[in-house]
Amino acid sequence: MDAQEFFKKLDNIPDIPTLPSIVITVNKMLQDYDTSIKNLTKTIEKDQSMVTKILRLVNSSFYGFRSRIKNISHAVIVLGFNTVRNAVVSVSIIRTFAGEDICEVFKTEEFWKHSIAVAVTSRYLAEQTRLDSPEDCFVSGLLHDIGKLVLSQYFTGLFSEVWKSVKEDNLSFYEAEKNFLPVNHAQIGGYLTKKWQFPAALVDSITYHHKIRRAVSDFDQSIAVHTADNIVNAFTDDSKGEGGFLRLDPVAKKSMLYQVETVSEWFPDVATEIESACDFFLKED
Ligand SMILES: [Fe+2]
Ligand SMILES: [Fe+2]
Repeated sequence: MDAQEFFKKLDNIPDIPTLPSIVITVNKMLQDYDTSIKNLTKTIEKDQSMVTKILRLVNSSFYGFRSRIKNISHAVIVLGFNTVRNAVVSVSIIRTFAGEDICEVFKTEEFWKHSIAVAVTSRYLAEQTRLDSPEDCFVSGLLHDIGKLVLSQYFTGLFSEVWKSVKEDNLSFYEAEKNFLPVNHAQIGGYLTKKWQFPAALVDSITYHHKIRRAVSDFDQSIAVHTADNIVNAFTDDSKGEGGFLRLDPVAKKSMLYQVETVSEWFPDVATEIESACDFFLKED
């Protein structure tokens, strides 16, 4: 099977997750400068459990906002369109993919814990370096490994073989998949998010999160996600198979030098933030 055949197969899977309609609508609305707070609020309010979740999120320590935000239009005024959009996207995607574990070696909850950790760390790096929008980096970080989830759910046989090789041959997942698949999980994630019509910066950050590329639409976002992934892998259990800090690209290291050199000082605080984000996103309402 070559890459083209692989993607054709992916296209033909009837139950491949489509984006929840609320995400499509909210995404479209935010690309339109004429969107009013009223319209956006109306759309989100059609999904009451989403409203509850968004209000819990914006009132959590995660956004560090002091006075209580009572409704969606208030949230949009205080936090901005982009932040609310990203909150809707994050909540919806986790909801869509929060199924049962398909194969034994790969736990969906562990997957999301890693993704949330990379999301929070990407956001932190963006905040500190001021290179990119922290909220956009959060969503890119959250989705960076989504290709693995696609593989585990729709190419289970191949996925298990890759994992077997990770364990037996002591390889990273990224190295091992080269021996079994015509495309890697980063390219699969890029393909899917492109199909979902996500912004080019997000698609590129996902596609190149293991091998960053200068000629992407938003190089800084790519660097933030790549660096965050390496940091998280270095500070958490490496057996999950993505390798450690040593895989950090020299260009990324250079542009985040201060953060990289002081990582052991700040990461414990970020780890606390990761824990509360996991509580928020992964616990049932
Ligand atoms: Fe990855
Ligand atoms: Fe990762």
